[in-house]
Amino acid sequence: MHVITLATQKGGSGKSTLAACVAVAAEAEGIKTAVLDTDPQGSVFKWGERREAETPAVDRCEPHQLAAVLKSLPEQGFKLVIIDTAGAHNASVAPALQAADFCLVPVKPTLTDLEAAIPTAKQLRDRKTRFAFVLSQCFGSSSRTNDAATGLLKHGEVAPANVFHRADFTDAYTAGLGVTEYNANGKAAQEVRLLWAWLARTIGEHT
Ligand SMILES: Nc1ncnc2c1ncn2[C@@H]1O[C@H](COP(=O)(O)OP(=O)(O)OP(=O)(O)O)[C@@H](O)[C@H]1O
Ligand SMILES: [Mg+2]
Repeated sequence: MHVITLATQKGGSGKSTLAACVAVAAEAEGIKTAVLDTDPQGSVFKWGERREAETPAVDRCEPHQLAAVLKSLPEQGFKLVIIDTAGAHNASVAPALQAADFCLVPVKPTLTDLEAAIPTAKQLRDRKTRFAFVLSQCFGSSSRTNDAATGLLKHGEVAPANVFHRADFTDAYTAGLGVTEYNANGKAAQEVRLLWAWLARTIGEHT
């Protein structure tokens, strides 16, 4: 079973949106997936409640219960767990970083967001947890996105799959769907499939 944690102290970077969309994309390939929401805000849990589909499994999990819950999932056939975390840099996020074989750090291509992601990257490097940034909610010229990627590369790997600012992401989330369900042929869906394909290769190669 692989465990991917979405983390960065910066609120609003796209952790919950990507957690939901990646889980749906993985489940669509027949990978039995669970989403664990460790954020007291409960955003992904509420997204799960809006879903009609029964998969992926979505539940809340207190950070201190994470290790025990993760232990129980392989025997239920789960092959992938996606953990969503609070936008914070404190002890409540540590168990989700600890549990991850890979962390995805969404970052919007603005200086403030880039700067805010650096402490998370440092924490992950110190823990020797594999991670990559993913550029999220990209907008404007491609040079903005490229410059952001160049800045981030000084601090860690950058997923070769940018996610743009698109209404599909917000609308799908509101409808309790992943973008690949909401508008399977849209650009947002393409971006998520690319991101998931890269993640699947990456976790498959290294764990
Ligand atoms: N790629 C995108 N395009 C357009 N809107 C997006 C995108 N990703 C996220 N959003 C919107 O941005 C807002 C924040 O996204 P989200 O809740 O996923 O961030 P978060 O990192 O989980 O925030 P928090 O730290 O508060 O939990 C939401 O309104 C969401 O719909
Ligand atoms: Mg969130």
